[in-house]
Amino acid sequence: MSVFHQSNGKTITGHASLRSALRDTQTYSSDLQGDSDVRDYRQLPLEVDPPLHHLYRSALAPYFVKPAIEKHVEKFRKNSEILLKRYFSAEPKEVVSELALPLVMHNLGVIYNRPQDVEEWISWGPDVWTAESEKRDGAVLHRYLDSVYEEALRHETKDIYSEIAHLEIAGKRVTPLEFRGIVGVLLAGGRDTVVKLLSGIMWHFARTDELLQIRSGKIAINTAIQEFLRFLTPLPLMNRTTTPETGMKELPADRYVGMSFISGNFDETVFEDPLSLNLSRARNPHLSFGFGPHTCLGNHIAEIEARVFMETLRDSELNWKIHTEKVAFHLAPFERVPDQFKSLQVVLK
Ligand code: HEM
Repeated sequence: MSVFHQSNGKTITGHASLRSALRDTQTYSSDLQGDSDVRDYRQLPLEVDPPLHHLYRSALAPYFVKPAIEKHVEKFRKNSEILLKRYFSAEPKEVVSELALPLVMHNLGVIYNRPQDVEEWISWGPDVWTAESEKRDGAVLHRYLDSVYEEALRHETKDIYSEIAHLEIAGKRVTPLEFRGIVGVLLAGGRDTVVKLLSGIMWHFARTDELLQIRSGKIAINTAIQEFLRFLTPLPLMNRTTTPETGMKELPADRYVGMSFISGNFDETVFEDPLSLNLSRARNPHLSFGFGPHTCLGNHIAEIEARVFMETLRDSELNWKIHTEKVAFHLAPFERVPDQFKSLQVVLK
């Protein structure tokens, strides 16, 4: 998911302030056009406010509830096993592009029942807007979305696209632009975020011996995942607007307010010693999936994928160390928190 909106520097920080701002959709509206350099339609349900938001969200929710994702666990496990084996099979490789991204895309292919698209999604790289070149561009994604929409309308396939193309929102069939908005966010949201989570897990276990404590049962996998989510905060900030944009001709340049999820995750009034990555942290009300009506719809996907990945690591005999790393860290006060794994290669010990 992209956080590309021009911002004028106004930001809500701190756990309590964020929770109340994220609930207050009247003051801090999501009625905004993000990524306006590469698209001219709304990502749905992300960029609309209640009550319209609720209509989109409730139509999509059944595909993302926990039992719907749990049923894919054995396929996720196979994907994790195959890709880990391949990753460690020969010379050192990049964790992001040779392990995390292919795994996340293969798993998404299972969830959406689109195995035929997996290689194409992988070829886009972690960010769909820079799929063809360094310069941000929506052409690749939009070509793809238009072609799968045509297919879905013809009911040629039985997958999430044909379900979405035939959804009715407030009594009306989803339009081509709504289809772009929904499927676009379903492809982008579950991509760089989960890739960063899985890469961060590999990075941490290369630098510590804590995988041994997972193996001995001293650290519980589910507790560890919540802490990885908190510490890595894969989506650190999203914007709101104080002027809802729909129907407005004049939009004030200073309308954006950033919701700094990362500041909530490192709020020392809530988390003891927040800058330590403590895989046994007992209470962990992190804001990595946001809070309020727009709370991440893919949270179960991310948590279940990460759980299966960590179970596969636990059950393997693999132990690894850093071969090369080039990590871009956040600015102070989060300077120990990785922002981007520009290069990360690990090798067996
Ligand atoms: C570690 C992985 C992930 C993180 C950290 C993450 C983070 C977030 C956050 C912070 C929001 C709230 C945005 C806001 O309030 O403006 C959000 C919303 C959303 N996420 Fe995720 N996400 C992750 C994975 C996924 C996955 C796997 C999918 C789907 C495949 C997904 C789909 C969505 C959608 C559709 C929304 C919009 C929900 C709404 O507006 O009601 N996300 N995500």
